Amino acid sequence: MCGIVGYTGHREAFPVIVKGLKRLEYRGYDSSGVALLNNGQLNVYKKKGKVSEMEESVIGKDLHSHIGIGHTRWATHGEPSDRNAHPHQSQSGELAMIHNGIIENYAQIKQELLAKGYTFKSDTDTEVLLNFIEDIKKNNNCGLEEALRIALKRIVGAYCILLISPEDPETIIAARKGSPLVIGIGKGEHFLASDASPIIEYTKEVVYVNDYEIAIIRPDELILKNLGNEKQTPFIQKLDMELAAIEKGGYEHFMLKEIHEQPDTIFDCLRGRLLVQTGQIMMGGIENNLDAFIHAQRIIIVACGTSWHAGLIAEYLIEELCRIPVEVEYASEFRYRNPVINKGDVIIAISQSGETADTLVALESAKEKGAFIFGVVNAVGSSIARLSHGGAYTHSGPEIGVASTKAFTGQLAVLSMMALKIGRAKGTLDEKRYLQLMQDLETIPEKVKEILNDTSNIERIAEKYKDASDFLFLGRGYNFPVALEGALKLKEISYIHAEGYPAAEMKHGPIALVDEKLPVVFVATKDSYYEKIVSNVQEIKARKGKVIAVATTGDEIIPGMADDVMFVPDADETIAPLLSVVPLQLLSYFVGKAKGFDVDKPRNLAKSVTVE
Ligand code: F6R
Repeated sequence: MCGIVGYTGHREAFPVIVKGLKRLEYRGYDSSGVALLNNGQLNVYKKKGKVSEMEESVIGKDLHSHIGIGHTRWATHGEPSDRNAHPHQSQSGELAMIHNGIIENYAQIKQELLAKGYTFKSDTDTEVLLNFIEDIKKNNNCGLEEALRIALKRIVGAYCILLISPEDPETIIAARKGSPLVIGIGKGEHFLASDASPIIEYTKEVVYVNDYEIAIIRPDELILKNLGNEKQTPFIQKLDMELAAIEKGGYEHFMLKEIHEQPDTIFDCLRGRLLVQTGQIMMGGIENNLDAFIHAQRIIIVACGTSWHAGLIAEYLIEELCRIPVEVEYASEFRYRNPVINKGDVIIAISQSGETADTLVALESAKEKGAFIFGVVNAVGSSIARLSHGGAYTHSGPEIGVASTKAFTGQLAVLSMMALKIGRAKGTLDEKRYLQLMQDLETIPEKVKEILNDTSNIERIAEKYKDASDFLFLGRGYNFPVALEGALKLKEISYIHAEGYPAAEMKHGPIALVDEKLPVVFVATKDSYYEKIVSNVQEIKARKGKVIAVATTGDEIIPGMADDVMFVPDADETIAPLLSVVPLQLLSYFVGKAKGFDVDKPRNLAKSVTVE
């Protein structure tokens, strides 16, 4: 994610930038920094930690400047640290740059620069791009704008970058592809940022820069060009929003925003890894430890809460596609019951925050016993990520709403790719199915978008059932953990008692709860259990229960029996949870909202549970 801010004009730049960075901290806050130009002097200050820590660290330093760029980071390449914080300076010290995004082919470019004698102070892809630009500028004897244009033609990945240099002391050069950039137009001044929240208190006139555009920004001038050096007409828009709304990207709550971000976060997770055209899955963490997985006698998945539900889905996936026995453990139970851990066991830890104490201590003790630990983590550089022998990040961006949503689908995307990669390498997954599942996985972001296109039906259903005192969530196979997740979400956000059960297990007890007042949510998409779940729905209807179904678009049987239906597009059953969970996230959100609760900060909960 990362947040970026830039300013050129008549004001002092530093206070404008710092205030803006604080508004963008939801995009990441593991380190921050600024670069300021004053009388031909480039001053760069950066610090690990929140923006306020960087602000404190520069007290007494030379902060006078009318032009500057600032960055708040959510680490992707390189751990959170002072040296990996942005802005970065080029080898000559003449250029300063901030970047939001991922340069996928940075390793190859870095090799070329190393061969030319370049050295690197950080582990970031950003510093590689910056030195690449400087190298082009030097070799072609051209200006910064031209060098940037040439460099970007070779770059694979996503970026929003801002560059400044003492050579052109009033100018910020910016470019974007895939990562957002807004330019605010003031009188004799311009503001740049990842979203409008740092800009709105100064001006309501903004230009949203498009992909593959370069902007040259001076106090009195804004020039937009495409990568072919042709001028583009800036489309000036008027902001019609309150500051508070913008901080949440226009959404009423972070939870809703994060639910709606899922097409992008799942895409980001797959990007550069799921290479459908060549039939490859590129995951360094698995590649480097492939032997451990192929020869694993057993995989033990350790996690808590929503991450534990992702683990249950992984159990189905790995057993089916890789034929390795899997056990899924609550971290807190695993830690304290003196588990048997044998040589050849692989432990997969799943965690959004990477700081959950139960998971962390469970891993520490397993590591002491000689287990191989693989982390599936969202927060880069977190304790669990550091403790793991290998791992794969979910790249879902900072999750601020306490109830986990986009992190869950990020975990499922990573675990699906892992199962595909290991199954293929082990020979337990035939090539035709492997390729088919890759293609199916690639379509998931678009299908999530389809579900999110119109949420009014789910909002209506939430309103209808919001006063129920209990809910039952039922599913079979891959959709059973989705039923558990739907129940957990509803409990967290709306404080309604909800239970998740395997649909067939219902008749062994929970069916006694069913009466005309009990809403029963069936996760009943078209899969190999479909006929069975149809019978389970009938069993509930026969007892006058109210059935709310998550069904596959085009299905007529389940909708014919259910009282209310939320449709999702068709998908192979192994990856269907990436879709079927989305309506349940929305259902809990709308119920909680209708009941007037603080959905972003539900009572008694915390985002990162760092106590055992
Ligand atoms: C549920 C939720 C929690 C977390 C759990 C584990 O919405 O957010 O159940 O999933 O506390 O947290 P992580 O994944 O950070 O280890």
